[in-house]
Amino acid sequence: MEVWKKDFKVGECKGQKTVDGEQIPLVLHPPQADRGDLGSLVAALKADKEWFEEMLIKNSAILLRGFDVRNAEDFNEVVEAFGRDDIRYVGPAPRTHVHKRVWTANEGPLSEFIYYHHEMVLIKECPNQVILFCEVPPPEGGQTPFVPSFRVAERMIEEFPENVKEMEEKGLRYTFTALSKDDTSSMRGRGWEDAFGTSDRIEAEKRAKALGMDMEWLPNGGVKTVLGPRPLTRVFPGRRGRRMWFNTVVGMHGKELSSATMADGSEIPADVVKRCEEIIEEESIQFKWEKGDILFLDNLALLHGRRPSLPPRRVLVATCK
Ligand SMILES: [Fe+2]
Repeated sequence: MEVWKKDFKVGECKGQKTVDGEQIPLVLHPPQADRGDLGSLVAALKADKEWFEEMLIKNSAILLRGFDVRNAEDFNEVVEAFGRDDIRYVGPAPRTHVHKRVWTANEGPLSEFIYYHHEMVLIKECPNQVILFCEVPPPEGGQTPFVPSFRVAERMIEEFPENVKEMEEKGLRYTFTALSKDDTSSMRGRGWEDAFGTSDRIEAEKRAKALGMDMEWLPNGGVKTVLGPRPLTRVFPGRRGRRMWFNTVVGMHGKELSSATMADGSEIPADVVKRCEEIIEEESIQFKWEKGDILFLDNLALLHGRRPSLPPRRVLVATCK
């Protein structure tokens, strides 16, 4: 008997898929009813750390279900069981610090769909793992769908070999406009002062440069940030040589506050973007959140998003190197 089997029972969840022979997500339950307490879970994760991390790379997502994890303090203990370094969030989402390594997930209005993305895809150093904890499951909607990124790349190469080749060769350029004041009426409403942690323009520019961005100040006090060239796809060590769709073209193309073009300024055809959006949705996997669920995502392999939700919903997050 393999060692981990004394600590976890493999299960299933409604909505899981089998991709390339692997169940996504891998669902792990307590091995028996009296082993679902936090102490047993943390001890099991510490004992089986290497196995768990291997499974996360193999299956891209792991759902811990049926354990007695109640709040941010408990969740933080689970996160810290692995001893991985924290990575500070940089980006447009409004988030609040809750406890130690635990933050609220995007606090944008629950009625909005947060589009699929690799966490911090535009920042030089993005997290390897995104870990989510469901404290209050939504009554309806509010799933966290995720998408095997290599499937998107495969299908785009199959359907649009020429366009993909051109985008790969030229690279991509993104622009994003941040307003000056915090405006939580939109999930894109995080002001630049908050995004860069300063209200000093010179300092903000310095920090933007460090992240590889150029800035253009606007008459209304906002700022347009320009990034590029950025890659269309990437291949990461240990992921079976899979080419990941590691970009945010669909999320930023032709939007009110953002754009995505090729790095030389040429347009990405709208029909290519539209079809990519359909493919991403077709490849999407989701389950219904239950109280106490903890979801581990391999951020280098999966895109994730958030469906519109009825209140209340409280999902917390930690990100790791
Ligand atoms: Fe996210």
